[in-house]
Amino acid sequence: MSLAGLSRHDTAKAGVGYGIAGMTIALIATVYATFAGAWGSPQATTGFILLVVAVLVGGAIGLWRARVVAMTGMPELIALLHSFVGLAAVLVGWNGALEVTGMSGALLDIHHAEVFIGVFIGGVTFTGSIVAFLKLSARMSSAPLMLPGKNVLNLGALVAFVVLTVWYVITPELWLLVVVTALALALGWHLVASIGGGDMPVVISMLNSYSGWAAAAAGFLLNNDLLIVTGALVGSSGAYLSYIMCKAMNRSFISVIAGGFGIAAPTASNDEEAGEIREVTAPDAAELLRDAGSVIITPGYGMAVAQAQYPVAELTSRLRERGVDVRFGIHPVAGRLPGHMNVLLAEAKVPYDIVEEMDEINDDFAKTSVVLVIGANDTVNPSAAEDPGSPIAGMPVLRVWEASNVIVFKRSMSAGYAGVANPLFHRDNAQMLFGDAKARVEDILRAL
Ligand code: TAP
Repeated sequence: MSLAGLSRHDTAKAGVGYGIAGMTIALIATVYATFAGAWGSPQATTGFILLVVAVLVGGAIGLWRARVVAMTGMPELIALLHSFVGLAAVLVGWNGALEVTGMSGALLDIHHAEVFIGVFIGGVTFTGSIVAFLKLSARMSSAPLMLPGKNVLNLGALVAFVVLTVWYVITPELWLLVVVTALALALGWHLVASIGGGDMPVVISMLNSYSGWAAAAAGFLLNNDLLIVTGALVGSSGAYLSYIMCKAMNRSFISVIAGGFGIAAPTASNDEEAGEIREVTAPDAAELLRDAGSVIITPGYGMAVAQAQYPVAELTSRLRERGVDVRFGIHPVAGRLPGHMNVLLAEAKVPYDIVEEMDEINDDFAKTSVVLVIGANDTVNPSAAEDPGSPIAGMPVLRVWEASNVIVFKRSMSAGYAGVANPLFHRDNAQMLFGDAKARVEDILRAL
């Protein structure tokens, strides 16, 4: 019910509510099932106290982080949380290896295979998520790591994993577990480090999927059906989301899960495109909007940073009162989260029916008088469509440059998330309105 609720705007809040209710029931049921038989024994009492302390400490940290995190910091927080699921699966796997009780024959072999698979998936998820966290929080370069023979390295690691699993099932020696743990940690790091900034949205949902499979693997070891089922739900829905995002970004799903398999290093130079830029003042921009027949607003990450959605909503309603046709064009990976822009616009009460997706609106730019690019950069970069050597080549973008006039709101000439220069700023029909997006939109409102 939670996942179904989260798939639509109007039911998303209820979806979160179902998720909280589900987790509460799961936690109570698991604690009850664990302690019911042994209640009153000193061992159970100690276990119960330890568990309550862990839940209180973890819960308090989680509550604090979720309360203070800025909307723009959500992706890296999510990546960090995925790393905990991976780490938990590794620890559960190790525990399963060190504490084998009452098993023999085929059951024991299956148990050993479960240990190995759990540790492997958990290890890949753990370091992969840490690299995603480092890249998303700009603590590590977003450029893809291009080790020589990277595909052979990834494939070699997978083959080694299969061989080691068989070996461990036959002779379960602990050093094999040490080797597979190290192998998984290295592979997770390499897989995500090899993927460039523009593909990070897919990586986040892919790691979400991995964390689900890691939880399912832990469920097998802990003999916990609920963890197996919820892990599989997260794993498969995350995989499907990754697939949808790959399609939206014109990327091969296999290529992304295989650590950028088949993606060549970019050949384009990243120097600023030569050419003049034209600046516009807020009163002149207001003049242009007053006379416009149709306006499309394409928001991006900068709108989130500036929290400009409220004045943007106000500008929208003022222009519509004057009879201007105003719509929004939303790129599937605008901002830093799937649906980031939709959440901000809904918060500012922009009507849903004028908020359109890229595919619905892309053919209309050519017939539009003014496009306002508010804090967007990569998602409106013409080089994705026109320059085959660009690192974001092939990624579908909003074709804002086809409109009669484009006004770009940003603070400087710096590049967007993917670190690619944007030739849009030098086009004859483009004008730059420098400064914080919220302040500039408010200036336009005053001038109107
Ligand atoms: P970006 O390409 O990230 O560009 C945002 C622009 O906003 C920057 O060029 C910045 O320029 C400007 N900006 C920042 N603060 C501002 C402020 N206060 N006022 C005005 N402008 C401001 O944005 P985008 O077009 O939304 O593209 C998103 C990028 O993030 C894509 O590359 C995407 O792949 C990646 N990504 C997306 C996701 C998801 S799921 N959506 C997740 C991870 C990564 P100045 O510094 O000059 O102001």
